[in-house]
Order: sequence, then structure tokens, then C-alpha cells
Amino acid sequence: MTHTLPGFISADEVLGERLSPAKVRRLDRYHGNQDLLEGLELLDLAGPFKVVSPWELEDEHGVRRINTSGYAALPFGDGHPELKAFIARYLQGNTSMGLPQQSTSAWRAALQSNLIRLLARDLPSHQDSRVFFSSSGTEAIEGAVKFAKAARPKARHFISFGSGYHGKTFMSLSLTPNAEYQDLFRPLVPGAEHTPYGDLESLERLIARLHPDKVVAVVIEPIQGEGGVNIPPPGFLRAVGELCRRHGIVVIADEIQTGLGRTGHWFESAAQGLDPDIMTLAKPLGGGLVPIGATIARKAIFEKMLPGLSSKRHSNTFGGNSLSMAVGVKSLEMLLEGDLPARSKRLGQEGLTRARNIMRAYPGLFSAVRAQGMLFALEFHPMIALGKPQSLRELAFEATAIFGLRELHLAGVMANLSLSSKRTVRLTPALNMPQELFDEMWNRVELAAQRNPRSWSLLKNTPPSTTVRLAHFALTRG
Ligand SMILES: Cc1ncc(COP(=O)(O)O)c(C=O)c1O
Repeated sequence: MTHTLPGFISADEVLGERLSPAKVRRLDRYHGNQDLLEGLELLDLAGPFKVVSPWELEDEHGVRRINTSGYAALPFGDGHPELKAFIARYLQGNTSMGLPQQSTSAWRAALQSNLIRLLARDLPSHQDSRVFFSSSGTEAIEGAVKFAKAARPKARHFISFGSGYHGKTFMSLSLTPNAEYQDLFRPLVPGAEHTPYGDLESLERLIARLHPDKVVAVVIEPIQGEGGVNIPPPGFLRAVGELCRRHGIVVIADEIQTGLGRTGHWFESAAQGLDPDIMTLAKPLGGGLVPIGATIARKAIFEKMLPGLSSKRHSNTFGGNSLSMAVGVKSLEMLLEGDLPARSKRLGQEGLTRARNIMRAYPGLFSAVRAQGMLFALEFHPMIALGKPQSLRELAFEATAIFGLRELHLAGVMANLSLSSKRTVRLTPALNMPQELFDEMWNRVELAAQRNPRSWSLLKNTPPSTTVRLAHFALTRG
């Protein structure tokens, strides 16, 4: 094929892996999020990485790592053969419209129906609920908030929780109390209020202060993922549900990270006794291959926002596209057939035991470990005590988690930082990771701990040139 635009990179060049890793890094940095990529490069974490199995990545030097990253969006690892074969079949055989915005669609109908069947199995009150599709988690939250507001038009406050994470579009950001993400964008959407997670009395006081009739909704993660795997006290979610029901306040359960098996249940809220009015799902529904978001709302709430001639009041171009719907159907099928939520629960318990043993052996490195299903948090002691002020303490924690992430990489485990916790690294392995690899993953975490028995070793073991370049980067780029 000939191109008239000099320098144009063809699809075949990329598919044929004809772009060198150095060129990929250079172009991505130059035209993309330069500072993020440069920071990763300084830490030797930038890749690009090649997927050599759904659960393993290889860098340009042939070094392999077990992939536990993906921010909980890889239920089957990266590019599982069964899912890839299905997508190939879909592309060959599908005759449904790709973007059926103005017509009915078999794929959308199937995914809606399957989701509601699954949800109503745990929460029968949802058997006639409705589904609205979008293309990301944050968009699913935006939809949820609009559904709730349409159902309570005279109310104006939304309550979310400290350390919560709901995304970074404007409303989701307003519900995500994190100064780093919010401060530049103030004033945020008016009416967003926050209260400590797991503290029922504080929530009751806040609702009373705002006046219950003025509260549209409480938005809650059944377990906080990006906050560092924070598990609420037993009974908290049930009590939140009862409190809101008493006042007619809409409950939105954000199951974007916890839902569909990650925490060892199909729906963590149901497992904890909460029957929310609206639920958001995203990450694993896309099988790690396509973008998707879903907002499930009770029928009466759904109809308030999208009635009759106003049924286009909320819409988008790509939500409900057939490829995402098809992958969603296939992903649910794979989760069901592998009984993966139950597997996640079993492996989660094994993993937590391993993590606790490692923490006991290396108490100078880890200050806490937490897990629910295949959602694991490793919390580090700060590698240097920066004392007060709080901002310096936070910096010490953040640097520790970043160096910890690097040491895990060097030991052969690719992990996740936590977007709303500076001190925590998370492992979110695929729910179908083979047992031997799962065991090996913990062996490697232990190896990283052996090499860094105290958090101070994280700094000691990092080449001084890297530390200096990182410090310079942090100071000059903010
Ligand atoms: C609980 C929760 N809600 C919302 C989001 C936002 O999803 P997305 O990144 O797809 O916009 C995330 C992402 O991590 C999440 O964990």
C-alpha cells in the first residue's frame, strides 16, 4: 500500500511488529502523556511489553513477568485464546449492525437479558430492571447519577465516601474526593458531599444536616478498589441500604471494580446484604479487550429519565455497539462456565494466607496486606520518615509504592498502583490464572521482599542515578 503522508505508520507495520520498542516509546512520549511515560521509563517500567500468554508479558530483552496489572479489567488475562477465537468468529460471521443506535439489536438484547438474569438471581427485586450501555466506568457513573437525579429532581446532594474512586469525568471526579485529581478543576459539580467510608454515624449525620429530602443518592463501592482494597465493617452496606430506603434516597452501588467475580462473588453488594437501586459495571465485562460500561437501574427509575418522547434524553454513540455487546455476552459465558467468581474466592483465600505469611516474615517492608477474592493490596511502610507536614509524608508513601512497584517488576510481577491510595500496590490477577502461575506470583512477591526486607532497602536497591533522575523529574515537573 502507498501512502501520501510521509511518516504515516500503517496498520500492517504495527501488526507486523515493525516499530522498534525505542520508536514506540519516543512517539508515544512525544505525542502522548509525556510525563507519565517518562516517569515509567525512568523506572524501567514503560515497555512496550509483548503478550506471550494471557497471564505473562515479555519485555524487549526477553524478560518475562506475570501480569497482575490491568486495574481489575482482565478477568481472563490479556487476549485469552477462547475470547480471541470468538471475536474472530464474530468478525467473520456477524451480520448485525455494528452501531445499532436507532434499531433493536440481538447482541444488546442478549447482554441486557443476561445481566439482569444474573443480577436477579442474587437480588430478585431487579428482575424487571433496565440496562443502559456506555463505553467506560466513568460514563456508567455519569449515567447512574443522571438516572438518580431524574428520579429525585427536587433533591440536589450526592454523597460519596472518603478514599472512594468513581472516575475522572466531571461528575465522577466530583464524587472522587482526591485533592490531586480535583483541585485544579474547582468548582466541581455542586452538591457532591463526602463522608468517611465505613462510618454509619457520620453518614447519618450528613444526611440529617443536608436534610434527607435534599439528598439524591448515596454512591458507594462495596469494597474500595483504588482506595487500596478497603473492606467496610460487617453490616455497613446493609445498614446504608436500610438508611437510604427509609428516606427514599437512591443507592448507587459502583461495582465497576468489584463486580462479576473479582471479589469472589458475582456482585459484592448482594453478598454484603445491599440491594442497590442502581448498579454500575464496566471493567471485566469487556473481557480485557473492548471498552464497555453498564448502568443497571430499577424500572421505575429508568423510566423517569427516559420516558416517551424524552427517551433520547441520555444517549451516546458507541454504547451498545455490537462488538462490545458480543464480547460482554461471551465474557459472562466464560465467567459462568469457569465458575470464576467461586474460583476467585478460593484463590483469594489462598493468596491472602500467602500475603500474610510474607508480611509476617518481612514486617519491616509491609505495614498491611488486604484481600477479598482476587483483589490484593500490599501496603508499604514509608522508606523514609519525612515527618510533618502531611504533604511530605504523602510524598514518602508515594515514592515507596512506586519503588515497591519497580521491585515487584524486577522480581517478575507486574502490579498496579492505587489511584486513591498513595501507599498501596495492588495485584489483580486474572480470575482464571493457572494455579502454578498464581503460586509462582506469590513466590516472586516473596523474592521481592527477600531482596528488600525493610522499606528502606527499596531506596538502597534503586540505582542512585535512577533516584536522582526521579527526584529531578518530580521537582521540575511538579
Ligand atoms: C470503582 C470504580 N469506579 C469507576 C471507575 C472508573 O472507570 P473507568 O476508568 O473505566 O472510567 C473505576 C476505575 O478504576 C473504579 O475502580
